[in-house]
Amino acid sequence: MGRNYLIAGNWKMNSGSGKTAPFFNELAKIIGDVPGQVEMLICPPFVSLNEAANAAKAIPGMHIGAQNLHFENDGAYTGEISAVMLKDAGCSHVIIGHSERREYFGEAEQVIGKKIAKALENGLTPVVCVGEVLDQRKSGDHFTVVETQTRGALAGFGDAEIAKIVIAYEPVWAIGTGETASPDQAQEMHAFIRKVLTEITGKEVASGIRILYGGSMKPDNAAELLAQTDVDGGLIGGASLKPDSYAAIVQAATKLI
Ligand code: 13P
Repeated sequence: MGRNYLIAGNWKMNSGSGKTAPFFNELAKIIGDVPGQVEMLICPPFVSLNEAANAAKAIPGMHIGAQNLHFENDGAYTGEISAVMLKDAGCSHVIIGHSERREYFGEAEQVIGKKIAKALENGLTPVVCVGEVLDQRKSGDHFTVVETQTRGALAGFGDAEIAKIVIAYEPVWAIGTGETASPDQAQEMHAFIRKVLTEITGKEVASGIRILYGGSMKPDNAAELLAQTDVDGGLIGGASLKPDSYAAIVQAATKLI
């Protein structure tokens, strides 16, 4: 079976509206032909989603996603954004349970599960993040942590729902630090996640689930990481903010098709 990649950019709280259309306009000029097996996704801040969705129309294979959502469709939840609103704004994907949301906003299993349910109910593809912090890797607990997070997030969902989910493995010690998991470390954990998914949902569904790697993926390490059997793409922070570095990662995936 040929490779099938998703190259996702998570802009976090960077690149406000003034930088959105220029990013996509520049990317459209330099990206070249991207095969259908390499899908692209950019997740800008909420306020730029509409602008991004419009600008992205010029780039075949480009999707727009949000970085978070609320687990109700509407109601008295000051400051929150729902899946319905994200669909209206032109989103097809939404990141759920990013380590920064777990760390700074106290997100845990229960709320992550509710968000996944709401995303699926509204036709959004959840990109569910799992990953260990440095102390957990040092103490050898990384597999247990990632298994607990994966099982916790997917608890209660049926095979048809799980088949629609994307998992992102993001070792927290490699996020924004310049540290990267080695290709072997990435493959080892991705294969482990695939094994856990197989136990949850069976081989057929598990083999089709995309598992992205996130944590200082950059043009100079992307090819090696993406070449690993169980690495089906990237969730890229810093290097997705500039059209040229994002394009270089997309092109690295294209060469591996
Ligand atoms: P960096 O690529 O900046 O390390 O960020 C990774 C990440 O957290 C993407 O969600």
